[in-house]
Amino acid sequence: MTRNWTPSSWQSMPAVQQPQWPDTGELERALKQIATFPPLVFAGEARSLQAALGQVASGNAFLLQAGDCAESFEEFTAVNIREKLRVILQMAVMLTYSMGVPVVKVGRIAGQFAKPRSANTEKIGNIELPVFRGHMVNDPAAHEDARRPNPERLVQAYHQSASTLNLLRAFTKGGFADLNRVHAWNQEFVATSAEGKRYEQVAAEIERALAFMRACGVDTETNSALHQVDVYTSHEALILGYEEALTRQDSLTGGWYDCSAHMLWIGERTRQLDGAHIEFLRGVGNPIGCKIGKETSVDFVLNLCETLNPSRIPGRLTLITRMGADHVEETLRPLLRAVRDTGHPVVWACDPMHANTFTAPNGRKTRHFDDIIREITGFVLAHRAEGTWPGGIHIELTGDNVTECLGGAEGLSNDDLDTRYETVCDPRLNARQSLDLAFRVAELIRDKN
Ligand code: PEP
Ligand code: CO
Repeated sequence: MTRNWTPSSWQSMPAVQQPQWPDTGELERALKQIATFPPLVFAGEARSLQAALGQVASGNAFLLQAGDCAESFEEFTAVNIREKLRVILQMAVMLTYSMGVPVVKVGRIAGQFAKPRSANTEKIGNIELPVFRGHMVNDPAAHEDARRPNPERLVQAYHQSASTLNLLRAFTKGGFADLNRVHAWNQEFVATSAEGKRYEQVAAEIERALAFMRACGVDTETNSALHQVDVYTSHEALILGYEEALTRQDSLTGGWYDCSAHMLWIGERTRQLDGAHIEFLRGVGNPIGCKIGKETSVDFVLNLCETLNPSRIPGRLTLITRMGADHVEETLRPLLRAVRDTGHPVVWACDPMHANTFTAPNGRKTRHFDDIIREITGFVLAHRAEGTWPGGIHIELTGDNVTECLGGAEGLSNDDLDTRYETVCDPRLNARQSLDLAFRVAELIRDKN
């Protein structure tokens, strides 16, 4: 009944949001080269993530997916990667401790270099330029040459992903993520704030709990769960040629995996049921996500579940809702009900960022912390009403002290936006706002039980 799938079967379907590469010969050469490169992740790791997400689907774990809107070729340093990891670890440990369930940690990292856009061109001053589509495609500088899609950037994205992943593996397995260092994850500029102090209190409780376990004779030294964490990678599978070039057959199972990341997602703009993105991702064995905006119908969601997860494997499909603080509760409920009634084992995650973006008076794209919290609140209330599990959050953040989103405990205002506005795409929560958000989310979900 279903059409045959191959890693290139997407090519016969309409693919939206693809760059107009000026030289197809150059593109072919770049993709051929990438196809010879080693995989970035292994199929077995993708399967471990899928099993962990299966626990989320059944209400026994929580998903924290977070990172940059778009990674940058310019901001590529060990410090940058470490600070992002640090805030993700801080959020995860607070969520785990307060909610009492494991937190599955997935970065928007090591491959998040391509952006879907609402228009093909933008006006800067009085010149019309091709739009910036992420560092994997072109450069954001405001001139024609910079904006020309360059396939060499696909190769560079691969190499930056490999180095980023290498460092992530070292940090997460080599001591940095050791629970005994829970205090050290608090950066100086965070530690002095109210959120930072609250974090210190919980960290002290965790230390006491570890001491208590040791006093009871539990060997905390040799238990790797206390010294290492799994942080998985994810990005939007947008540039399908790149994804295909990294799709490899698993020697153990014979299945195909997109080895560019552990988890891939389909964006709000590329989720056509008869389109190339869904065609490509339906055939790979990785856990996959799909963004769901406020216009999504029940029929579409049920079709999506059948297309992407016909075997109903728990953890295979994460539906990432991004509906806007004002709409989420009433828009989400019929979808939750319908999916629940079919018995499809999906993970429901809340992206409270993308439908709450607006332009501030000074022209900066921004989001208000209160709207972000309101969307998560509506998401949790909808789940509470339908008896389903609010499985996770999908957040754009950075470990730096940037001023890109308004509000939060430090009360960032319009005037503050220019101080440190550094994102190459959408506005991100800074480390303090992210930690604050983790506390609020833990309280919201805990109140439920
Ligand atoms: C994103 O996650 O950065 C994004 C573009 O989201 P969406 O597809 O939901 O707009
Ligand atoms: Co974004």
